[in-house]
Amino acid sequence: MQIETSRLRLRRFLPCDIPDFAAYRSDGEVARYQNWDFPLPLASARRLVGEYSRRDPARPGWFPYAIELKEDASLIGDVAVNRHPGGLKAELGFSIARERQGCGYASEAVRGVLGELFTQGLRTAVAECDVRNTRSARLLEHLGFTYVRQHSVFVREKRERTQLSEFALPAERWAVLKGQ
Ligand SMILES: CC(C)(COP(=O)(O)OP(=O)(O)OC[C@H]1O[C@@H](n2cnc3c(N)ncnc32)[C@H](O)[C@@H]1OP(=O)(O)O)[C@@H](O)C(=O)NCCC(=O)NCCS
Repeated sequence: MQIETSRLRLRRFLPCDIPDFAAYRSDGEVARYQNWDFPLPLASARRLVGEYSRRDPARPGWFPYAIELKEDASLIGDVAVNRHPGGLKAELGFSIARERQGCGYASEAVRGVLGELFTQGLRTAVAECDVRNTRSARLLEHLGFTYVRQHSVFVREKRERTQLSEFALPAERWAVLKGQ
């Protein structure tokens, strides 16, 4: 299940990730448009990492890949994949620690995961982000996703109603972009 890109290793979460995972999940900038409980105490990070490390990436449901920077083996974020039953559709989510943003790591990590999913027969990748999350929308569009629609949701963790933009990337478009 491990995915290698030029600078990154996408792998299962490990116990050594707990402090860095708790740190970026507790950063208000990273959490701003995510539906997380925030901040994330170390004990909760330990429980979550333990739970993530037992999940099977081939099964339906969310599987978070830890993003490890090869040069120093540090955890810099995660790409989470929610495979729908049947394996034809999957939703993606992503986070990068604030001090590691702006270096192309999210683009590289998400592209690596998409490559793996489409090779395994995925037909459509989808992603949603808060309409105010312009960095995330820009990233999705750079990767080839196209805007589908907007819908309104109540985010329990933030106690607010907000608009989400939905994006999609069909396998046919991925194949064209990959060939360019
Ligand atoms: C959205 C988010 C994941 C982007 O992460 P990132 O690692 O900064 O993204 P990238 O570095 O790949 O791209 C960001 C910018 O860096 C630029 N960049 C810098 N170096 C680059 C490189 N070597 N290769 C590619 N792009 C590079 C990109 O062009 C892009 O520029 P733009 O924003 O002007 O379009 C990050 O801001 C984040 O974690 N936000 C909080 C969590 C969140 O909201 N997640 C999304 C929920 S839907």
